[in-house]
Amino acid sequence: SGAVAVLTAAGSGSRLGAGYPKALVELAGCSLVGHAASRLCATGEIEGLVVTAPAEHLATFHAALAAAPGLTVPWQVVPGGTSRQASVAAGLAALDEARDPASVYDVVLVHDAARPLAPPAMMRRIIFAVRSGHSAVVPGLAVTDTIKRVDAALPGSAVTVPAALGATAHGTAAYGAATPDVAGGVLLVAGTVDRTTLRAVQTPQGFAWDLLLRAHAAGAGRAGAEATAATDDSALVEALGESVWIVDGDARAMKITTSQDLALAQILVQTEET
Ligand code: CTP
Ligand code: MG
Repeated sequence: SGAVAVLTAAGSGSRLGAGYPKALVELAGCSLVGHAASRLCATGEIEGLVVTAPAEHLATFHAALAAAPGLTVPWQVVPGGTSRQASVAAGLAALDEARDPASVYDVVLVHDAARPLAPPAMMRRIIFAVRSGHSAVVPGLAVTDTIKRVDAALPGSAVTVPAALGATAHGTAAYGAATPDVAGGVLLVAGTVDRTTLRAVQTPQGFAWDLLLRAHAAGAGRAGAEATAATDDSALVEALGESVWIVDGDARAMKITTSQDLALAQILVQTEET
């Protein structure tokens, strides 16, 4: 029994805006998906890897991974789905397909190519925590910003803010449709959250294989009914009523969403100890 990994890379990277899939963007001469795959293998614990890619770019992803250093375990590229959750499910199905029926996987890591510099030492913490009996383990960092809860915008509260003052930074495009549209307006604060009780979570997330399969099966049923996908895998485990545990995350596991994040990753990769 060993550990396997699903590496999600099937997103388009619309917020980064490279004009091609985000996971193929290069950092220090290696694709983001290649960086993430190399680090998963560098744990020395992974025995199989499935990468989800946009269906129309499978060959390019295959070439990017073939060029990545240290991919010493069997790996394959499969088409992702229309949501991250669907992509993870596709990766799990491919791993199950590749499994020797006589053997079982003990741990599955689910990782995002959007976090290319997540260090192997952090990944090992997660694998060992799962093996010690914590069936769902996610890396988390303390929150440094003060966090406010907001109410819906009050009727008549919209104010005209000159574009030069940056009103669009709070528009619906940045926050998603479920959040009130406050472009050019103001929001009423409903309260301040006690940030000592909060953790910002990263990937990879680690699970007992059977538990993650069960969580995704239940999640697929709900997604059909409610047409919403979870933003991470541990939320699917929480929805089953099972415990999720947090271990220390790492600043280097930062997520690349915008070009500003990519610029930070460029600095981090130069100062990385190998
Ligand atoms: N992902 C995926 N399948 C999808 C959507 C996302 O495998 N249908 C993956 C992405 O490739 C990424 C991770 O999920 O590694 C987190 O998603 P995100 O950072 O949002 O990446 P993108 O969806 O590519 O970016 P954007 O939302 O800006 O388009
Ligand atoms: Mg996305």
